[in-house]
Amino acid sequence: MTDVTLSSKNPTAVKAEALVVATAQTSDGVAVVSDQLPTDLLTQLETLAPQLGVTGARDEVRKIPAGPQLAAEVLVLTGLGERAEDGTFSAETLRRAAGAATRELAGLASAAIALPASDDDEITAVTEGALLGAYAFNRYRSAGKETGKDAAKDAAKGSKSAGRNGKDPVAAIEILTPLHKNAKAKLAAERAEILAAAVHATRDLVNTAPNELYPATFADAAKAAAKDVKHVRVTVLDDKQLASGGYGGLTAVGQGSSRGPRLVKVAYTPAKPTAKVALVGKGITFDSGGISIKPAAGMEAMKSDMAGAAAVLSTVVAAAKLNLPVAVTGYLCLAENMPGGNAQRPADVITIYGGKTVEVLNTDAEGRIVMADGLVSAVEDGHDVVLDIATLTGAQMVALGNRTSAVMGTDEVRDEVKAAADAAGELFWPMPLPEELKANIKSKVADVANSGPRWGGMLNAGLFLQTFVGDHPWAHLDIAGPAFNDGGAHDYTPGGGTGVGVRTLLTFLEGRAK
Ligand code: BES
Ligand code: MN
Ligand code: ZN
Repeated sequence: MTDVTLSSKNPTAVKAEALVVATAQTSDGVAVVSDQLPTDLLTQLETLAPQLGVTGARDEVRKIPAGPQLAAEVLVLTGLGERAEDGTFSAETLRRAAGAATRELAGLASAAIALPASDDDEITAVTEGALLGAYAFNRYRSAGKETGKDAAKDAAKGSKSAGRNGKDPVAAIEILTPLHKNAKAKLAAERAEILAAAVHATRDLVNTAPNELYPATFADAAKAAAKDVKHVRVTVLDDKQLASGGYGGLTAVGQGSSRGPRLVKVAYTPAKPTAKVALVGKGITFDSGGISIKPAAGMEAMKSDMAGAAAVLSTVVAAAKLNLPVAVTGYLCLAENMPGGNAQRPADVITIYGGKTVEVLNTDAEGRIVMADGLVSAVEDGHDVVLDIATLTGAQMVALGNRTSAVMGTDEVRDEVKAAADAAGELFWPMPLPEELKANIKSKVADVANSGPRWGGMLNAGLFLQTFVGDHPWAHLDIAGPAFNDGGAHDYTPGGGTGVGVRTLLTFLEGRAK
């Protein structure tokens, strides 16, 4: 990951390949948001803004030669949009502007960031944003195939990514702040590094091809991620243990694949925990739909159907690295949903861990089935609160689009998650679990059916999960849309896996640490 340091250097004097400065939209044009750049340079930039195509809008990044007044080689202008009514910029605005800028710095060796960073909150936001934007997934690019100008330039510079078809993120960034020696500021930057590493690890897992990442290799990845992390223990139940242990959900969904299911528990147990939290994640390493097979168009995006489990794994590891005084157990519900000869059929009746029966009406509503095993197991283990996170329903996207995730559950926990998301800068919106819709998932033969009418599809799925947690304090996070960005990169969000949920879950845990 990109190396990050806090520094009090003057932006004019800092020797880096690029210097990042913010622009903003004002009533009469563009403002450069910096009190440390020479006034004549500021005036020049603000006057030439129209010719440079600089408006100060959010997600606008422009690179220009830095000129003789700066020690840096390139000046990068990143837009903050308009100031809020109180004259400031929100933490999320800073985070996004920092990330939009670092996304444009790929291939460079060094950059300095001179965005507003005069208190812990601003330092947190700028450092998080910068690191979240400094991400690339180049694992599958073969060496030496890059063509064109970029390759020649990289080679001339001896850049790290030279000859690679795909550039690595900027190698090192300095965050310019007067608080570079302040202990709280340093802690904020360290936390941002741990958090960003967790988001990157989640994105990597989501982006990994499903022929490589399947339940057994995901379990290996969990062991690798927890290796050398103090107080974290990983236990794995394999397909045979799941079948004999009564985990009928994971077993049924996994049986259509030649690669068997796994239930992975990742437990972080600090010495004197203030709370005990369970995180249950949906880990369908590929969702073909099973016998209720999905249409071919867009099916490739279903490699991301394990984003919930990836977020859970990374969050538990991050909580341990931050030494949070909260015990956290992750339950990764891993299976591949395939239409093999032994696959479950529509009309099958299965028994979830704990004894409740499910009539499988649609094998493509598999997430809720594997989650049921995980949720019952989590409730049984006796946590103060259970959170689950899943790319559960297409209906989530119909309701909220692909930028905003949904949260449902018991009233207090749901609101606590929403507050954590707001503080972390992730978009979540509360959704109801109306008693009146329970009839939708009634089965003619079993305790409950795994699918119902199309209307309220996200809530039907939530109500199905609720059947397995009872009235235990609980929230369900449906991240179906936001987990995978199949459009272009924006702000600090790359294409592909986004790592959504990690920041909210971690902030929730920090809240329980107090
Ligand atoms: N993994 C999908 C949900 C999904 C769809 C996530 C698109 C991300 C993008 C889930 O397993 C699924 O197929 N759900 C069905 C449920 C239906 C059959 C009741 C859906 O939403 O269509
Ligand atoms: Mn499905
Ligand atoms: Zn699915």
